[in-house]
Amino acid sequence: MSRHFITATLIAIVGVLHPGCAARILGIFPFPSFSHQIVFRGLTLALRERGHELVVVTPNPINDPTLKNYTEIDVSFMYEHWRLDWISVAKKYTYYDFIMQSTPTFSTITEGILSHPKLQKLYEPESRETFDLLLFEALRWPAVLLFAKRYEIPAIGITSLSPTNQVHYQFGNPIMPSQPPYWNSRGIGFEKLTFWQRLCNFVQTWRFLFYYRTTYMQTQQEIARKYFGNDIPDLRDLEKNVSLVFTNQQAPITFVRPSVPKIIDIGGFHISDRHEPLSKDLRMILDEATQGFVYMSLGTNTKSASLSNEMRGEFIAAFSEMPYTVIWKYEDDLLPGQPDNVHTVKWIPQQSVLAHPNIKVFIYQGGLQSTEEAISHAVPVIGLPVLGDQTSNIDKIVSLGVGKKLDISSVDRFDLVEAIQSIVRDDSYKRSMLKLRDLVRDKPYDSLENAVWWTEYVIRHKGAPHLHSTTADDPWYQRQDIDLIFIIYTAILTACTIALRVLYKLLAYSIYFLKHQHLIRKKEKVY
Ligand SMILES: *[C@@H]1O[C@H](CO)[C@@H](O)[C@H](O)[C@H]1NC(C)=O
Ligand SMILES: *[C@@H]1O[C@H](CO)[C@@H](O)[C@H](O)[C@H]1NC(C)=O
Repeated sequence: MSRHFITATLIAIVGVLHPGCAARILGIFPFPSFSHQIVFRGLTLALRERGHELVVVTPNPINDPTLKNYTEIDVSFMYEHWRLDWISVAKKYTYYDFIMQSTPTFSTITEGILSHPKLQKLYEPESRETFDLLLFEALRWPAVLLFAKRYEIPAIGITSLSPTNQVHYQFGNPIMPSQPPYWNSRGIGFEKLTFWQRLCNFVQTWRFLFYYRTTYMQTQQEIARKYFGNDIPDLRDLEKNVSLVFTNQQAPITFVRPSVPKIIDIGGFHISDRHEPLSKDLRMILDEATQGFVYMSLGTNTKSASLSNEMRGEFIAAFSEMPYTVIWKYEDDLLPGQPDNVHTVKWIPQQSVLAHPNIKVFIYQGGLQSTEEAISHAVPVIGLPVLGDQTSNIDKIVSLGVGKKLDISSVDRFDLVEAIQSIVRDDSYKRSMLKLRDLVRDKPYDSLENAVWWTEYVIRHKGAPHLHSTTADDPWYQRQDIDLIFIIYTAILTACTIALRVLYKLLAYSIYFLKHQHLIRKKEKVY
């Protein structure tokens, strides 16, 4: 046996068997959105390749029987709970109002997980199953943390977006409704906010947090009790004890904010060098588009097919005027009035299209994963934000000079033609995009490897309580010393009031005394 072989074998054995490795990980990712799922899938597959065994709850299973140690529990029925016309939802509600309205949907999703027979089998009291780690999507179902409690294991949250306010709050991060990182607030742009806007955001944010920490948590607590029994800890405490949260918050393309060390940035790791091949037909269309092509997709949640006739008409009119080929991700068989230069596809390997050298512009809804893909292929964008963090993503993109923003509810053919032409003709967008790509790629480590390292770190140490910030234990008014400011302010106010009163009295007496003296003098003169 050669020495090389022995060394290689030793490395393999040590690699698989050193403490912390070969763990059994339960992943719970119920949210029916493909763009969320590809991020989680990137991590779970990488963990599998490291020799861990995974049980993954997902609405988008890979269904590949050759993947050993990778069991999927298919919850694709979640998509039935989340069919919405996002464009009209976004028009009607603010983000917070929408989330509050959606509480029953989130409860249904939570119950869908806890009542799933395959999962019940895992957690029932007689179950002999053991795990070493819970990975879960940190969005709005804290009840799944009972799985971590059940097996006495640490939990790591993961979000495909930057963290929501309740995640910031649960770990003791400052809540800063006046600052742009807050995509949760509506009407918050890149520019400096007025006093009134700040006040509105402040009230909205704290109103929502109050709702989440009381009413919403109560609902989740009740669901958890129903499945795990009455003797369960407060979900807010379980949430606070989550070891880490992986979030997508790369500094160059989001807004920088102060953060506790439990929040680990994993931006951009779903970007892959291996692209799914394009179909032969599509490849030919793109290759032949020597004038360049425009690619339009509103993502996986918003459907182009659900645009109103009027709005669709504006897009068609704009596209038909242009010398470019247009590839449109369109979910229906028929696009009424389809011009010759427009080709529709129901599904498309997006990264492969963005990688094509003939692409000029990407028209999209501003989703974070798509933004990262556009940057990784240096394709300038036109964003028509619809929901969630999309407005904030596009505001950032516009501020970086790599794209333009249009309003999806009022966009017309003239805006579209103008936006597309100016991006194609003005090469500053492309140049800024290339610069941004360099900036985003310049990192001390690979995001995915970093996430795998942190995951194994938590497994090795059975949690990460040493990363816990004590601010997370304080009530809201102590976190930013609001109580102290209030007391000091009150003390100063009281002191000032007393001083003013004393001064006033003194002045009054002095005047009286002066007048009085005057009279006395007069009297003296008379006599
Ligand atoms: C499956 O996971 C176990 C640990 O749970 C590990 O010992 C085994 O080597 C893994 N198998 C494969 C094929 O990776
Ligand atoms: C949270 O962590 C602390 C410190 O490790 C521990 O004392 C407490 O019991 C935990 N709470 C719950 C609900 O698990």
